Amino acid sequence: MKITILTIFPEMFSAVFNNSMLKLACEKGLLAVDVIDIREYTKDKHKKVDDTPFGGGAGMVMMAQPVFDALKKVKSKGQGLIYMSPKGKVIDEEYLRALSKRDEITILCGHYEGVDQRILDYFKAEEVSIGDYVLTGGELPAMVLIDSMARFIEGVLKGNESVEEESLYMGLLEYPHYTKPREYEGLKVPEVLFSGNHEEIEDWKFEESLRLTKKRRPDLFERYLEDYEMHLSKAKKKIVEKIRNES
Ligand code: ADE
Repeated sequence: MKITILTIFPEMFSAVFNNSMLKLACEKGLLAVDVIDIREYTKDKHKKVDDTPFGGGAGMVMMAQPVFDALKKVKSKGQGLIYMSPKGKVIDEEYLRALSKRDEITILCGHYEGVDQRILDYFKAEEVSIGDYVLTGGELPAMVLIDSMARFIEGVLKGNESVEEESLYMGLLEYPHYTKPREYEGLKVPEVLFSGNHEEIEDWKFEESLRLTKKRRPDLFERYLEDYEMHLSKAKKKIVEKIRNES
């Protein structure tokens, strides 16, 4: 997937693309990222990219000219543009999965009070939010979007971290994880994890996952049961019953 990012803080992106999973995804050729510095496109002699809003009001607005010129280099009119904004549709797993199927995405990061509306109208921008809170700019939200979407691109996660493998757990919170040593400061790892009995371990994971979801996110617990309970095996249905009846 080709990702083009337009920003006034291009250096912020080196932190995510030069480290960890996303770096690996770029090295494997699964992602190609182009970060464009909007400031390089301004015709203002002081390199200004923002100005006061018409009609008054607090803050500054990112000007049409530098963003238009930067975008015209990479896009033509009406060709999908994602604009990171707290006014947008809040992302969820379904949106991220669909996004991960695209060949190309272009993301515009706003600042100050936002961008001149004509940019969004002309390029038919899709406004996307990462949650009901406001950040100081669109860069961190863009990183959240890219990181959470990239997990769904085949090959980005290592084999055993496959997101599809988690299908049994679709929409549930994850069970607890443990690693060596078996005992630390008197704290023990649940015995079942050493049993070597894969079925028992699988049941334990499923049970813990259900228990945690019921406790912390009853909304997700109910949705999971509505969507998936009928598809579960008899043994898994028994586990569901046990958790349902727990107080
Ligand atoms: N820019 C500022 N806040 C944001 C949010 N919650 N989501 C996306 N972009 C933003």
